[in-house]
Amino acid sequence: MNNIIIVGAQWGDEGKGKIVDMLCEPFDVVVRYQGGHNAGHTVRIGDKKFILKLIPSGILHPGKRAVIGNGLVIDPGALIEEIGMLEAAGIDVTSQLSISNRAHVIFPFHRMMEKMTEDTHRRISIGTTSRGIGPCYEDKIGRRGIRMVDLLDREAFPALFDALVEEKEIIARALEIHERMDFKAIRAQYEAYGERLRPMVCDTARLVNTAMAQGKRVMFEGAQGTMLDVDHGTYPFVTSSSAAAGGACTGAGVGPTRIAGAVGVSKAYVTRVGAGPFPTELKDASGDEIRKRGHEFGSVTGRPRRCGWFDAPLLRYTAMLNGFDSFALTKLDVLESLDQIAVCVAYRLDGRETLEMPATAREVERLEPVYEVLPGWQEPVGNVTRYEDLPGNARRYIEFLESQVGVEMGCISVGAERTQTILRPESRFQKLLG
Ligand code: IMP
Repeated sequence: MNNIIIVGAQWGDEGKGKIVDMLCEPFDVVVRYQGGHNAGHTVRIGDKKFILKLIPSGILHPGKRAVIGNGLVIDPGALIEEIGMLEAAGIDVTSQLSISNRAHVIFPFHRMMEKMTEDTHRRISIGTTSRGIGPCYEDKIGRRGIRMVDLLDREAFPALFDALVEEKEIIARALEIHERMDFKAIRAQYEAYGERLRPMVCDTARLVNTAMAQGKRVMFEGAQGTMLDVDHGTYPFVTSSSAAAGGACTGAGVGPTRIAGAVGVSKAYVTRVGAGPFPTELKDASGDEIRKRGHEFGSVTGRPRRCGWFDAPLLRYTAMLNGFDSFALTKLDVLESLDQIAVCVAYRLDGRETLEMPATAREVERLEPVYEVLPGWQEPVGNVTRYEDLPGNARRYIEFLESQVGVEMGCISVGAERTQTILRPESRFQKLLG
């Protein structure tokens, strides 16, 4: 039983795409378990760059099975576009990809509902990716959603679709939304999408469990990050799914007894896209410098990412929630030009020092970081492949983070290429890879 979960330890964009891609080799199956095309996992292979939104990075490895689990919400148009992009790059998507028959379907009216709630006076604006993710999950939890299996049911789909549309029209009228949609055309278009995807749709929980029973190794690939988890993140500034490791069980249909460990992916600093509290955010030139050096612009929406110092209490919180065995620390190279690097080691809330993450975004907004400042290393690290060859101050920085968070940093990424990665011998990370 060597199945592992890879989870974002911050607010998403931690560089999971590269880590999952890099770790793929010993695994037979890679499964996404939540979210939708709000995610953007960038993988660079040589001079080729792939941005994967719905399909797990395992697809880039010939012969590996890539699975879109039941916990996802799927915009079939976006999925078909992604399949086209990969096929154009010579990847045999139809034979490698499996899509859960129980995943829910995003329709254009979900995007419309999202725009409406984001724009409504008195509703908190989350700064979503505007992909219809939240409203589709609302329909799922409200038990009126349409799943892939329904989309493929030629007899049942039209009535299910019409019933859902009827509800949306009532809401739109009540809210005086005048945007018109040609629902007949949408229905026909979705029927065509269904036919295109049909050969890949199946019971993926059965597929994954059968693979595990046969001794195959499975990696579960989280999207977004723990601080965007609907239960544990900075609610309501979160996404609508269970991004933390626990989501892998429900979102893929596997029992917790089948999973050997969890790896957190964290940048050597912190970023956030969209609205919501961010205790270590840098609103000055050092934030701009990190953004520029780290190319911190959203891979899905292109929005500039907010940047800040490493936040140890936050990482300790997400390590606890996920039970991380090890961290993959990414983008260490981005900090190499700085002469000093601050690390948040505690918070001050209303005059009192704390290490805890408060439950409300209102309180998180009021947290004042307590910093410790470390000397930078001011040397390039992009070509370093062994931990002991990192500059002394870079190693001291990493070891300081470990001591503050209480979890090892078993893997250090120093650039976008697969090869720009340092694995620490004798680490739990190495052991999990087996
Ligand atoms: P939604 O997932 O589109 O509903 O957006 C909710 C919040 O999650 C917004 O702040 C988004 O910016 C953020 N978000 C969603 N997906 C990602 C991601 O993949 N990376 C970073 N932030 C994300």
